Amino acid sequence: MRKIVILTGAGISAESGLGTFRDADGIWTKYPLEDVATPEGFARDPELVHTFYNARRVQAAAARPNAAHTALARLQRDWPGEVVIVTQNVDALHEAGGASDVIHMHGTLAGALCAICGHRWLAPETMDTTTPCPACARPAARPGVVWFGEMPYFMDAIYDHLASADLFAAIGTSGQVYPAAGFVQEATACGARTVELNLDPSAVVSNFDETRFGPASRIVPQWVCDLLDQRG
Ligand code: APR
Repeated sequence: MRKIVILTGAGISAESGLGTFRDADGIWTKYPLEDVATPEGFARDPELVHTFYNARRVQAAAARPNAAHTALARLQRDWPGEVVIVTQNVDALHEAGGASDVIHMHGTLAGALCAICGHRWLAPETMDTTTPCPACARPAARPGVVWFGEMPYFMDAIYDHLASADLFAAIGTSGQVYPAAGFVQEATACGARTVELNLDPSAVVSNFDETRFGPASRIVPQWVCDLLDQRG
């Protein structure tokens, strides 16, 4: 049985109405990432950071999965081997599309984290500087997402999956943020075939064996159909 490991980025949720980060009108062109996505920014102005993530939480809760999300869920269901989805996205659209056991390496908007004691809980729709931690009671709630300068989650499990992958696919990610951008080289070194599916070539496109360009809602279902046709 062949094992497939899939890395997804903001591009897979773009057609669900959630903005990407580095495209022309991307999130980081409107909000300096140093202010809203670093521990230093949170220490400087926690209200600003809460306001930014509260708005993203509301927006993500209203978004619906698109054909790319549902196609990956179908692949997980119908492929006669393991299909592991690792996402950099903090939305829940893979799960809403029917996928299971999604590895959220950058955390989730649905999660809250105590900046003092490290306790994690389900985030309320909005948080502010008075939101108490249910474990230590201190008003130190922060979004349960990974910021620049912080280590992504589940890295040991992800590298274990890459080491046993037969096929690695990166979907809708610009290849500018590590460690995720390095997964293609890791997978190649471990013997996997690699494919990039994206609107435009990523920064690491030359590391892939195969490329497919176009909107995710078109190229991902097509890729899944091709894989399922070949499964024999
Ligand atoms: N279909 C497929 N790909 C698309 C689409 C689409 N409809 N629209 C945009 N893209 C592609 C872009 O061409 C780009 O390569 O998605 C990619 C989005 O890149 P980024 O905005 O950099 O998002 P991502 O790679 O997920 O960012 C990685 O950076 O800021 C951090 O934590 C944040 O998880 C994020 C990480």
